[in-house]
Amino acid sequence: MKEEIMNLLKKEGKLSTETIDEIKQVDINDFKNLVEEIGKQKTEHIIADEISKNLNTKYIGKNLYVFNEVKSTNTIAKFLSTNNIADGSVIISEKQTAARGRSGKSWKSPLGGVWLSIVLNPHVDHSKLPLITLATGVAVAKTLEKVGIKNPEIKWPNDILINGKKICGILTEAVAKFNTIENVIIGVGIDANVDIEKFPEELKNGSTTLEIELGRKENENLLIKLFLEEFEKISELFDHEGYEEILKEWRKRSYSIGKIVEVREPFNKYYDGYVLGISREGALVVEKIDGTLEKVISGECIIKN
Ligand code: BTN
Repeated sequence: MKEEIMNLLKKEGKLSTETIDEIKQVDINDFKNLVEEIGKQKTEHIIADEISKNLNTKYIGKNLYVFNEVKSTNTIAKFLSTNNIADGSVIISEKQTAARGRSGKSWKSPLGGVWLSIVLNPHVDHSKLPLITLATGVAVAKTLEKVGIKNPEIKWPNDILINGKKICGILTEAVAKFNTIENVIIGVGIDANVDIEKFPEELKNGSTTLEIELGRKENENLLIKLFLEEFEKISELFDHEGYEEILKEWRKRSYSIGKIVEVREPFNKYYDGYVLGISREGALVVEKIDGTLEKVISGECIIKN
């Protein structure tokens, strides 16, 4: 993380050569205010004022940082989250050069997409993290519905699909101290108006964009505003333990339920099965070929039919 933050400060001209030499000795945490400053500078495509103008939320996105280019908004969010930034702060970047996806994969983030991370202080234990990811998926799906997408679907745990093709991924990460969650970072990537023709072949085939699906570009600032509003609604539901309602909304849009899948859990635990549903904790419930049931909390789930 230190290198990533230092590179950003260097690129933005915030560090003199002497400071760069000194920084090897000093604590990178002393530079949080400078990073915050960069995130408040003017940007060209994603405009903080445009997002804030009619933003109808109480706390989500009230504190916005917009960067021109970072490696990963999740890293910046993690870094800033320990600087007591407001609950619901949002870190956005027009481009990311080393964005992270699930299972150690990378995530393409050129200009034209929505790449953001939300910092939450949800006062929950680890067992509730899968539900936060599912809730975020519902918020993305509802946002897409608002801009005219008829039937967005959610593939467990966190892929948003349109007509079977992926348009959005979510990466939730916890910042924990002594086993207590201090903050949750929710990273969301939406391929709004990106040019997927430039994606590698294997990604291109399974991906789509809003521009392709709507036949027009959708304004990214508007998209972010709508998403932050949907996100706040569902996170309030989460805070009031409205888990059943969140699951109901998720199930309504599920792509996974009723499908034959190959489950790939950590430590090479692979098996085929039939998806019966999702449990109250947000686990995928799979009936294996031998009739036994498995609850999948983390891993990949490849659809076979
Ligand atoms: C996935 O693998 O489907 C999850 C992709 C998550 C990408 C987003 S883009 C904003 C945030 N910053 C990151 O580095 N990753 C997430």
